[in-house]
Amino acid sequence: MSDPTFQEIASLFPGTWDRNYVAAKLRTDPLYTALAEQLQNSPLPLLDLGCGLGLLGFFLRSRGIEVPIHGLDYDERKIKSAHLASESSASTGLTFSQHDARTGLPDHLGNVSILDILQFFTPAEQDTLLTLSAARVAPGAKLIIRSGLRDDSLRFRITVAGDLLAKAMFWMKAAPIHYPGADDFHRILSPFGHVEITTLWGRTPFNNHLIVLQRPDRA
Ligand SMILES: C[S@@+](CC[C@H](N)C(=O)[O-])C[C@H]1O[C@@H](n2cnc3c(N)ncnc32)[C@H](O)[C@@H]1O
Repeated sequence: MSDPTFQEIASLFPGTWDRNYVAAKLRTDPLYTALAEQLQNSPLPLLDLGCGLGLLGFFLRSRGIEVPIHGLDYDERKIKSAHLASESSASTGLTFSQHDARTGLPDHLGNVSILDILQFFTPAEQDTLLTLSAARVAPGAKLIIRSGLRDDSLRFRITVAGDLLAKAMFWMKAAPIHYPGADDFHRILSPFGHVEITTLWGRTPFNNHLIVLQRPDRA
């Protein structure tokens, strides 16, 4: 049976399209539950890069995670929708800004999330975004990424097709450019701490993985 909080979160959004999308996304994608598990014991603020409609923030609130959450996305329509949903909700401490992550990142010290956006960046832009993000992770905190991983699997080919379809349907402003491989995450993030990569497929056909950088506690 579907969790009633999924429908509650969906009902915060203004249009039928967003409401249906949010309800279906929360029901079928294991992403947000995985993030709640990763973040449940941290008292630190979260910076959510490429936040879309801000689903992660609303979901974390429904799971009792009350830290300040700031979401950034370059899509003005999605940020407006996230603002409207926030105004309709009883939650506090959820803020959203329109911002292109290719132009740099705001000051932050806490946890950072990058969910399903790296494929819209060139390899050099991915390198820069991951490095800037890791530098904003506090001692003992995490950079949590979800990404399709480039490999020779059927799942990877389905992932690419799904992103191309999202662009064709105008849900995404951009088509995918480049998918990172597991080796890229180890190369870029290992200097900052411990990197762990696990599958996050759920019932989806996509080649999604969770990549977690855990920074060591301050000595
Ligand atoms: C597949 S959606 C994921 C949304 C959200 N992270 C989630 O998982 O619910 C990818 C998001 O990345 C955003 N995005 C892509 N390129 C971006 C950029 N350069 N700066 C900021 N946001 C970007 C898109 O507008 C879109 O909302």
